[in-house]
Amino acid sequence: MAKPKYTSHVGMVDILPDESPKWRALEEIIHEEAAKFNFEEIRTPIMEQTELIVRGIGQLTDIVSKEIFAFEKGDSHYVLRPELTAPVVRSYVEHHLDQRGGSQKLYYIGPMFRAEKPQKGRQRQFHQFGAEVIGSDDPVADVEIIALMMRVYERIGITNFELKLNSVGDPESREAYKEALRDYLRPNLDKMSDVSQERFEKNPMRILDSKEEQDQAFIEDAPVISDYLNEESQQHFTLVKEYLDDLGIDYTLDPHLVRGMDYYTRTAFELTSPDLGSQDALAGGGRYDLLVEEIGGQPTPAVGFAAGMERLMIACEELDISLADEKSVDVYFVTLGDAARKFALTHLPKVREAGLSATMDYKGRSMKAQMKDADRENARYAIIIGDNELAEGKYSLRNMKASEEDSLTFEKILSKLAGV
Ligand code: HAM
Repeated sequence: MAKPKYTSHVGMVDILPDESPKWRALEEIIHEEAAKFNFEEIRTPIMEQTELIVRGIGQLTDIVSKEIFAFEKGDSHYVLRPELTAPVVRSYVEHHLDQRGGSQKLYYIGPMFRAEKPQKGRQRQFHQFGAEVIGSDDPVADVEIIALMMRVYERIGITNFELKLNSVGDPESREAYKEALRDYLRPNLDKMSDVSQERFEKNPMRILDSKEEQDQAFIEDAPVISDYLNEESQQHFTLVKEYLDDLGIDYTLDPHLVRGMDYYTRTAFELTSPDLGSQDALAGGGRYDLLVEEIGGQPTPAVGFAAGMERLMIACEELDISLADEKSVDVYFVTLGDAARKFALTHLPKVREAGLSATMDYKGRSMKAQMKDADRENARYAIIIGDNELAEGKYSLRNMKASEEDSLTFEKILSKLAGV
């Protein structure tokens, strides 16, 4: 009988040992930069109640209508989280995080799940890092969120991007705008896609996000929200732009930018890169002043962003940026005979206690094969041990790069290694 052949699910990829150092390096950068901005990490479960995600993101969005992985068990309806803003807000409300005082400045790193058609830069399990400021409607919060997002890319050396900016207004501005949009679209509605027709009454702004070919001509000349912002939304947007200017952060105004979730109010932004191909959004976010209340909390303004980590990696590859050093080990014990192997096994901990990484052969291979393995592991030093060395109490310490060897006691070897 043929052996079964298992693979990971389509669009869900393993991060293999050759790849994981760059993930760790990226995570380290995110933790460091978030700390500099005084954000605190939050970790929420991978699964949430379906109802939370539907309510939070919006029934008519692509994410909820087509892309969620959902299942039932008993009376519970589970969904693999497609994003983290709604879950973080759920956690904020559930645990009364407002009582900690001040604005909550939270960040996260982790896997998300969307049942999209996989392609370059688009997976079904992908990773985001992101941040949310909950409890402030000050444009300073919007700009700090954008600055933190940009800082991570800048630090890595990705600077070839465009920050697209819009204001999608507050409820009052949006009502006026939706009316204008309906008036504009109504005469041609029967020529538009079924999805757009469905969205027309309940949420015509979603139509601006349509990917359907037949809708594009109508979307192009649609009225823009910036002409319908009330004074308050306009003032807020003006300050966001002014503060971005003050920080020297370039942006392009994009009046059609509506983003893929229904929770956005006022500021909306997206960071795109020409190095990514068709899935060109590195990151995106905006303000969501009504979501906390929608999810059962007190009215609380908030703003945040999330960034795709796989897309950041693709941009790094395109730009020849390596996030992590080549793999290496400080010390490789090369042994001949059982007594030498035992010596190596019992002296590995001493090297590790000195703060160095150390390994030995696990396969009983010849000395020559072990030296080759030490090379493959990119070892900095080899400690070579045979019966003579054991009898003498002195071992060969080989500097692998310089091809130099010293015969030393183990104590001398340790102090020499500790000094390098
Ligand atoms: P989003 O625009 O849906 O926003 O996702 C943010 C980023 O995640 C995208 O710009 C992209 O880089 C990455 N991404 C999304 N889907 C995929 C996928 N299928 N494969 C690979 N990468 C993907 C949000 O998720 C909001 N929660 C952002 C936010 C936070 N708004 C306010 N606070």
